[in-house]
Amino acid sequence: MAAQKGMTIGILTGGGDCPGLNPVIRAVVRKAEKEGIKVLGIRNGWKGMIENDTFELNLDSVSGILPKGGTILGTSRTNPYKKEGAVDKVRENYKKMGLYALVATGGEDTLGVASKLVKDGVGNFVGVPKTIDNDLACTDYTFGFDTAVNIAMECIDRLHTTAESHHRILVAEVMGRHAGWIAVEAGIAGGADYILMPEEATDLDEVCESIKHRHARGKTFSIIVVAEGAQLKNQDITKDKSLDEFGHVKLGGIGDYVAKEIEKRTGFETRVSVFGHIQRGGSPTAFDRILGTRFGVKAVELIMQKKFGRMVALSGNAIIDVPLEDAVKALKTVDKEWFDLARVFFG
Ligand code: F6P
Repeated sequence: MAAQKGMTIGILTGGGDCPGLNPVIRAVVRKAEKEGIKVLGIRNGWKGMIENDTFELNLDSVSGILPKGGTILGTSRTNPYKKEGAVDKVRENYKKMGLYALVATGGEDTLGVASKLVKDGVGNFVGVPKTIDNDLACTDYTFGFDTAVNIAMECIDRLHTTAESHHRILVAEVMGRHAGWIAVEAGIAGGADYILMPEEATDLDEVCESIKHRHARGKTFSIIVVAEGAQLKNQDITKDKSLDEFGHVKLGGIGDYVAKEIEKRTGFETRVSVFGHIQRGGSPTAFDRILGTRFGVKAVELIMQKKFGRMVALSGNAIIDVPLEDAVKALKTVDKEWFDLARVFFG
């Protein structure tokens, strides 16, 4: 592998933050330093490319960041393709920054932009997949997901003791707009009595029947996990129809609605707990630190091999690379096998 000493590469983090971003940044800088490559940190995702907002990253700036959640680069949900003249600004600033290549770290939105910029000949981009939602295609897991699942599982464990003491139904609302990965994995790990997912519309009467069945066998409490994007049969409860720059509606409210309906239809006292951004904050698990580290090192290797327009990915236990455009074509949603597994424990 021919090292290109003296060249400068950039790195940005876009979209929702997630535990494991700092390990990626650290790994990129550490690997680059070994190869004699300079690294520029781009602030706040694509916004920093539009505004030429950068700072130099070196061994000192990444020292101690491995266990830290969030991203030292900052992030935003800025889409240059939705702002007049912004793509030209990215092209201009890419040149001004003297970049040989840029590591774009993000989910389907951030990497979707990187993929378009490659096609539009703006520069040399490689992608690193990140999202607590685990819904990015072409990779078995994204970092951030394992931390989110563990946090949600711990919260569900805590709900159990209070639900049991008060003989209540507790509805736990977890993140996951279009994919129910957090709901299904945290639900199975936490022993949920029902899980409502975005992938398949749920009939609330069936949920209530299942709860009644459980209570008929002597149980006096239940835990119901609801993904924030869960679909209900014959119901659309999205409160706020306004869209962000990537066309996402603001979710929120499904847990509350489900809790009220369960109480009304079963007569059992019900409460809701919305886990929200707690799932995205704080220190990454060992799994996410290691995955982020492996992804960061591989991203620099891809650049050195001139493999642009590629995304690093996890396949089994191997770090591979895949075409960026394939990864952003369609979301990876939860398949039937997971639903079937979860259902064994309902009722
Ligand atoms: O994409 C990650 C995610 O955490 C989703 O699970 C969630 O729907 C969304 O971000 C929340 O976004 P924001 O932080 O902008 O409210």
